[in-house]
Amino acid sequence: MKVYEKLLDENKKWASQQAETDPAFFEKMAAGQSPDFLWIGCADSRAPADRITNTQPGQIFVHRNVANLVVHTDLNMLAVLQYAVEVLKVKHIMVVGHYGCGGVKAAMSHSEMGMINKWVRNIKEVYADNRVELDAISDENAKFDRMVELNVMHQVKNLIKTSIVQKAWKNGDGPYLHGWILKLDSGTINQIYEVAPGDLSEVDDIFRYDI
Ligand code: CO
Repeated sequence: MKVYEKLLDENKKWASQQAETDPAFFEKMAAGQSPDFLWIGCADSRAPADRITNTQPGQIFVHRNVANLVVHTDLNMLAVLQYAVEVLKVKHIMVVGHYGCGGVKAAMSHSEMGMINKWVRNIKEVYADNRVELDAISDENAKFDRMVELNVMHQVKNLIKTSIVQKAWKNGDGPYLHGWILKLDSGTINQIYEVAPGDLSEVDDIFRYDI
């Protein structure tokens, strides 16, 4: 059996087990989705949204990219965000980073990596913005961990800066925003940041739109 064929084989097993446990499961799946959560996580293979939260298909709308970034020119992310907020009306958006993130590590180095430079450049801005705090941390691992946290908080703030979130908040049905960090060595998630709907105090006033 080829390596990838194992995936198809396991898929068949999973589908039949699901159908056995809940005969209406796939009928409900096919009828539509109404997830309460949008998960913006890292593309890292060790951070699967549903597996680590013990949720079922249909419960979390997911967007993942390298280092869980919210980049204001990223049409992919913006389309996901708009659909999640305006159509699915998710109640919570979580930006989920993880300690040991290769994307964050790359951004902290001076390595030249071609196209990847353009993506992790966004994380270098986080470093530059927090240089005083980061330079005061002498332990390299502690500094790396702190960068992962600062990056998550920065990306949550980037969500506040979107007209999509601000419009939803204005309409009174806006989502809570959360910053979470997954610890790969224990599988547990720490909550490090939360922003309530309507709270624009975390970002500079220049980012506020007249909506
Ligand atoms: Co990562």
